[in-house]
Amino acid sequence: MNPADTSDLWWRTAVIYCLDVETFQDSDGDGYGDFAGLARRIDDLDALGVTCIWLMPFQSTPDRDDGYDISDFYSVDPRLGDLGRVAETIRIAQDRGIRVVMDLVVNHTSDRHPWFRAARRSRDSPFRDYYVWRDRPPRKKQKLVFPGEETSVWELDERTGQYFQHSFYRHQPDLNLANPQVRAEIARIVGFWLKLGVDGFRVDAVPFLISGEGTPDAQDPHSFLRELRRFVGRREGSALLLGEVGLAHEQQVEYFGGDATQLDLQFDFVTAETVFLALARRDAEPLARALSARPEVDVRQGWAMFLRNHDELSLALLADEEREEVFEAFAPEEHQRVYGRGIVRRLAPMLGDDPRRLRLAYSLLFSLPGSPMLFYGEEIGMGELDGDIGRGAVRGPMQWDAGRHGGFTTAQRSRLNRPGPVEGYGPEHVNVHDQRRDPESLWSFISTLASRYRSTPEISWGRLRVLDGGDSRVLVHEAASEGSSFIGLHNFSPEPLTVILPDLSDGQSATVLIESRGSAPQGEHSEQRLDGYGFRWLRLSSSAA
Ligand code: BGC
Repeated sequence: MNPADTSDLWWRTAVIYCLDVETFQDSDGDGYGDFAGLARRIDDLDALGVTCIWLMPFQSTPDRDDGYDISDFYSVDPRLGDLGRVAETIRIAQDRGIRVVMDLVVNHTSDRHPWFRAARRSRDSPFRDYYVWRDRPPRKKQKLVFPGEETSVWELDERTGQYFQHSFYRHQPDLNLANPQVRAEIARIVGFWLKLGVDGFRVDAVPFLISGEGTPDAQDPHSFLRELRRFVGRREGSALLLGEVGLAHEQQVEYFGGDATQLDLQFDFVTAETVFLALARRDAEPLARALSARPEVDVRQGWAMFLRNHDELSLALLADEEREEVFEAFAPEEHQRVYGRGIVRRLAPMLGDDPRRLRLAYSLLFSLPGSPMLFYGEEIGMGELDGDIGRGAVRGPMQWDAGRHGGFTTAQRSRLNRPGPVEGYGPEHVNVHDQRRDPESLWSFISTLASRYRSTPEISWGRLRVLDGGDSRVLVHEAASEGSSFIGLHNFSPEPLTVILPDLSDGQSATVLIESRGSAPQGEHSEQRLDGYGFRWLRLSSSAA
């Protein structure tokens, strides 16, 4: 494909911002964020440089998994608004050039969904085959997603005497994608929301969706993703499928599909996990290794880069000893760890001992080839909630100002049934209002990163290469495209260091795009001095370009 034809591949250069409407901004004082509140905050996101909002699930739900348990795919949780408010919010965002994608959670439904209620009424129900039933659980033990909270992925339905499969919680029965009627239902759901105006979907739990019992086509499980991609393309040519595939890079390649036929973007879990290993070791070597091995994908597809998200920081792809190193460095207390594999903390307190390290991490996020994703509150360095509350710890209300409840709501405290943030991270210390007015704040830094990222298309479009700068503590990476290249330098150690860049060829010049505060003046371009945890972005261009 000619790169000139990439104009509607907007996701390749998107700055993605994930939020939960429920915790973002309450407009009516009932203690729940809502679409009317979000609509009022779109300008804040625009000012930050966000170009795509990812809405976590907002449909009707018994809310036993933060909305990932949907009981009506065509509705809106009445606490958050209604379809009219959703349409209006999408319009307001798009009016500012911001796209809106939403979670597509179709691996399972809530057990309160009318399909499941009907399915469990009798073995002859017309909806029985919407789910996956067995007379007894298969002998082969399946891995648990929530060990400690669940003991099996099969649950006995007493009334009908069969077991149903639930890859996640027992109240989330898996849909049976082998049933063509279920696939047709999914297509209708996707078609409905595209008509309402969304620009695409973050597809939840993709490997579970297409594997296990209830696989769309046992011979060719990926046929469902191809079908979905074709359907979305027919209905809305520029809509995005952003997949959650928490697997190793080599396996992720299968979810892109040859010739751009499946997912458009996938979260880069390997890199996210390895960044933390490198931070823990104060050495870029593991990251350099992971990035060098990252497969190249079709020009129409790419990686969504992230540091933290709404779930635990999963370390499942690291080796056992590596995971221990990260746990020791960043989650010293037992309640900060979950499921034996992850950390339920936000980034700022994790790196809180040194603000330079926090900036290094965000500089990386925006400079590694891909589309950066922020989880709400990261732009101001929000902390996690204080207490042993599992994944909920990172899902506290947004902190807009220093006032009561951080300007999130005017409700009485009793309605906000969660602990406050860890010490030093309350709204009086960390909020949008103050940071937007402070050019030295994290908010201002991240908005600068977003703007540099958007004006440096080489980062997304260029070919990633890890260079040898002569010191493993510094990551030197290049994203090269015709005429100009991007070079990122990131020092993972607290010591000032010098790395050597390959000499520029004749007629090439280097421009500094951004660098850590107080960087020493540079000598020859081939010798790059970096402060402890320092970073620098360079553009190398030939004078003719
Ligand atoms: C989401 C989780 C959710 C699970 C079940 C995921 O992978 O990210 O937050 O609990 O899917 O829907």
